[in-house]
Amino acid sequence: MLNSDKIRTEEGISGRVLTICENNLDIKTLLHLLQLKDYDAYIHSLRVATLMDEIFTADDAVIKGALLHDIGKLELPLGLTNSPMRLSAKLKDVVKAHTLLGAEILKYYPDVIQECALYHHDKTNDTDYIKQLRACDIYDAVTHPRPYREKCFTSEEAIGELKKQQVSEDIISAFKMYLPKDRVAL
Ligand SMILES: [Fe+2]
Ligand SMILES: [Fe+2]
Repeated sequence: MLNSDKIRTEEGISGRVLTICENNLDIKTLLHLLQLKDYDAYIHSLRVATLMDEIFTADDAVIKGALLHDIGKLELPLGLTNSPMRLSAKLKDVVKAHTLLGAEILKYYPDVIQECALYHHDKTNDTDYIKQLRACDIYDAVTHPRPYREKCFTSEEAIGELKKQQVSEDIISAFKMYLPKDRVAL
């Protein structure tokens, strides 16, 4: 075999997250499809799952949900999520639908995993793992380059963004405890 059959990653993905990918061929396959279509969304998913592992010691089902939270992007028109152009309100609505599309793709998965796809952008959801996932999602998105944004946030600026996005104090404290003793951004 020419290529390694191990899931392809950059540095900084936790061993537990990689083991969960390797041991669940369906998840590995869905992530591979995402990698082929939208590499940024793929590596973001691995990093978000790593934050959920390292900051919140989430259980396996939640790690699986974190790995698949953006899987609905498989169904979006090619190039839409990585467009360097400012999207019209109508196209933003199309992108927002990745939550519903993801839940549909994950129809036969346990509720916890489906809910990670469905609610990860929902400020009003009160479930602990959804609140944690939303914070990890925001943190990772703002600390890494995107084609439509000029600069990445520092970890301090990212904490400011979490506050702006109404992430709760206990979750922000967990980020603050994690960041200084480990790498600042994955
Ligand atoms: Fe998303
Ligand atoms: Fe995301």
